[in-house]
Amino acid sequence: MERTSESTISQAPFPKGPRGLPFFGQSFRYVRLGPVRFYRYLRGNFGDVSQHNSLGMNFVIVFSPTAIEHVLVKNAKNYSKDPFLRGWKEIFGEGLLTAEGEHWKRERRLIQPSFSREKISSYFELMEKAALERISHWKPPQKIDARREMMSLTLEIVSRALFGAQIGPGQIEKVSHALERTSRYFMKSMGPSRLWVTRLPVPTRNWYLQGIQELDEIVSELIQQKRKQGAKTQDLLSALLDARDEDGSALSDKQIRDEVMTLFLAGHETTALALTYALDQLSRYPEVQNKLREELGKGESVFLKQVIDETLRLYPPAWVVARQALHDDEIDGYRISAESNVVIPIWAIHRDGKIFSEPDEFRPERWTAEFRHSLPRTAFLPFGYGPRMCIGSHFALQEIQIILSMIIKRFVVKSTTSRPLELQASITTMPVRDVVLLLSRMEYERS
Ligand code: HEM
Repeated sequence: MERTSESTISQAPFPKGPRGLPFFGQSFRYVRLGPVRFYRYLRGNFGDVSQHNSLGMNFVIVFSPTAIEHVLVKNAKNYSKDPFLRGWKEIFGEGLLTAEGEHWKRERRLIQPSFSREKISSYFELMEKAALERISHWKPPQKIDARREMMSLTLEIVSRALFGAQIGPGQIEKVSHALERTSRYFMKSMGPSRLWVTRLPVPTRNWYLQGIQELDEIVSELIQQKRKQGAKTQDLLSALLDARDEDGSALSDKQIRDEVMTLFLAGHETTALALTYALDQLSRYPEVQNKLREELGKGESVFLKQVIDETLRLYPPAWVVARQALHDDEIDGYRISAESNVVIPIWAIHRDGKIFSEPDEFRPERWTAEFRHSLPRTAFLPFGYGPRMCIGSHFALQEIQIILSMIIKRFVVKSTTSRPLELQASITTMPVRDVVLLLSRMEYERS
């Protein structure tokens, strides 16, 4: 079942949805409720496929497995990335995250082998080394800003995975500054300030452009060096340089630049957020933390994986996947107009009470093998779904496992607040307040 014929589509009703203010539509309700409660409201009142208008745009929200399959797999060719993401081409060019059509297909085919489970396991040592190095700076009893620490650790890891020993600490520091500027710009360009931030030479935009230029300089220097060196090394950049299509063609310098930029950004912030949320939850549930520590002491990792999945369910770093319809279409018997923005609300899907009992509670034990097996395929989507699913999921999961177990084996982690963890939804989710944790050494607790 690919495209439904035009005549059938025109008969179908449009999805139902709330009436809203002219132009602003549902935007005030969305801001007031936040994405999880807003999408729950839409589903509760208007069903599995609903629609609303906000800020002059039409949004279609899909919950049902058939609708998600339709948009991300069966009729994926009718759906391009959403307009916000397309704006990112300024920095990522035609890298995997932003590329479309045949170009994306070829890049994915060329790059996929470098992200297989086996290839990723060769990064085990570098991940462990970087984590040990970071932890060695902690002198407990001490407070840490978990997000800051995890951001710098995951950037170190993705830089080493991309460039090996070739990238120096000074360069990583520069990359970190430049990425911070680009993130700040992205955040602003998603809110109401979008109207001027993206069009006028305001400081945020100038810093962003400067940030891109700095990143470009570092990346092209590293590519040139590696090309000159010629020696085969175990890093992703070598793999990208060596990648060949069936006809023997390779990636150009521009394509490699775009992929490196994409991997720098896509490869560290989301992972750092997942780690921050997991540490936050462990700091609030000492019995879960103890159980995990006990298991790790026996060299096992079943509960570790359950803790990670429960964290990704309740607090997904990527809270939404969005697409734009290229042509009119029909989803679950509803008419979808060309240019509609189709939203797959991962965060709200993960809190569906029909699938996850006590959906807002942190309960890692729920993730038994039987439970996992019984889940509909579209009920748990931290890494997306279909052909454009996250290429770095094995990389991220391995990294999160290594870092979490290293921390929990060595330290007792305590929360410093009784206020619950609250996230805001920007490009990724983000903690509303800094996640400050108190670390003490294991021995202190035992004595
Ligand atoms: C916990 C960590 C991570 C989360 C939650 C996450 C989430 C996601 C999601 C939801 C998508 C799909 C977006 C869409 O369909 O529109 C995606 C795509 C992608 N991710 Fe990740 N990601 C993570 C870590 C990583 C890492 C470590 C890397 C690389 C080292 C990476 C690289 C990418 C790339 C290149 C894409 C685009 C793939 C394509 O379109 O072919 N991600 N990610």
